[in-house]
Amino acid sequence: MQLAHPIFKILSEIAVEKGLEIYVIGGYVRDLILRRPSKDIDIVVLGSGIELAETAAKQLGDLTVSVFKNFGTAMFRYKGVEIEFVGARKESYHLDSRKPVVEEGTIDDDQKRRDFTINALAISLNRENYGTLVDPFGGLQDLENGILKTPLDPIITFSDDPLRMMRAVRFASQLNFKIEPVTFESIIANRERLRIVSKERIMDEFNKIMASPKPSVGLKLLEQSGLLSVFFPELSALKGVEHVDGIGHKDNFYHTLTVVDSVSRVSDNLWLRWAALLHDIAKPVTKKFIPGQGWTFYGHNHVGERMVGRLFNRLKLPQNEKMKYVQKLVGLHMRPIVLSEDTVTDSAVRRLLFDAGDDIDDLMTLAEADITSKNEEKVRRFLANFQIVRQKLKEVEEKDAIRNFQPPVSGEEIMKTFQLPPCKAIGDIKNAIKEAILDGIIGNNSTEARKYMFQVAAELGIQQEGK
Ligand code: CTP
Repeated sequence: MQLAHPIFKILSEIAVEKGLEIYVIGGYVRDLILRRPSKDIDIVVLGSGIELAETAAKQLGDLTVSVFKNFGTAMFRYKGVEIEFVGARKESYHLDSRKPVVEEGTIDDDQKRRDFTINALAISLNRENYGTLVDPFGGLQDLENGILKTPLDPIITFSDDPLRMMRAVRFASQLNFKIEPVTFESIIANRERLRIVSKERIMDEFNKIMASPKPSVGLKLLEQSGLLSVFFPELSALKGVEHVDGIGHKDNFYHTLTVVDSVSRVSDNLWLRWAALLHDIAKPVTKKFIPGQGWTFYGHNHVGERMVGRLFNRLKLPQNEKMKYVQKLVGLHMRPIVLSEDTVTDSAVRRLLFDAGDDIDDLMTLAEADITSKNEEKVRRFLANFQIVRQKLKEVEEKDAIRNFQPPVSGEEIMKTFQLPPCKAIGDIKNAIKEAILDGIIGNNSTEARKYMFQVAAELGIQQEGK
């Protein structure tokens, strides 16, 4: 194996001096063979990883070493790469805790306790066989065949760390690999053990699935294995079709996956992908069959918007502007479609721009992806109307600059003009001006807005001082 990074030769020489046996292992080796860009380098040392790290860091010019004594690991950064050192371990976990019992082991022991055969590959950095692949579990073959398989009986591997069940799905989605049947059966059998894993770790893996080229690959596997209902029952609840009087509705789980994939083809924005994932999340709770009308999901956009906050909180996702963005898109996701069903008026477009602000382009991407009807004629009509909406959005924005609407007359100015204390009338006047701009009665500029202000004030019986 060709090892390009200069650190390998340097470490190899130090190991010879110190009489240590060392290997590069895990994700770095996997990505090297797959020709994927690699990030961190993991080094396994038969003996003390900390000691090797400290010696190497000194030799490389007194680099700062972070030492984690409890785990027997050490880390430093060199030429832009994080290099982590760990002593080879024989490790087992207590069934009900994540605290490992660690003993020193051989390279084979260390490889055995890793998650998948493709992540258990090592390359020797020792003088006698430098660059040789050490592959006791057929990891190279599995890499070539695109297979995810545990090195030991999957029951052992997964009870050592149940997060690995999520990792199996994550790698399947990232690399478009298949999970070997026995391993997959074991995930189904052990899915409940995921409950002992923290939400943060689960979400790290889930977000990697969401960021993968075709997230539906992972989302389907999560559903089929039963993992999804363990940590995200609201999403599993989208699955299924109910029939009344022979009328069914679409399966909202598979519809959602199609929307997520479509959005992912055109955008890497993780939170736009989340908005696609959650756009119909309230359909199960708002579903009603109305005779003569069929299946309805009234208000699912607004109920969904409220569910986003609760979900983000429970799943330990960010509670900041990212969450607000997802809420906003879920709340607005039907607006462009409703708009395009009608004659597209300037004022409806202005209102949409006002509500969506800078997120208008993402909203249009989501709404367009949401059109997944099997009726080709219907899809064609919607997409054509969408073109009109996009064109109008451009025109209205150029003319009226509504996207980041700032009231052209401030509350201060209204108070000063009419010598008013802070009171309800100020808000009423401001609001009337905003509405007039959105309806196209006046332009979005201070001259027209001030003129309109006097008109509204007069209607409210408010006079300017001294007049
Ligand atoms: N590993 C494991 N079990 C885990 C996590 C990690 O056995 N629950 C092992 C695997 O050998 C893995 C290595 O530790 O290759 C490094 O883990 P990590 O950095 O989390 O993942 P990578 O495989 O490097 O993948 P990525 O960088 O994409 O996260």
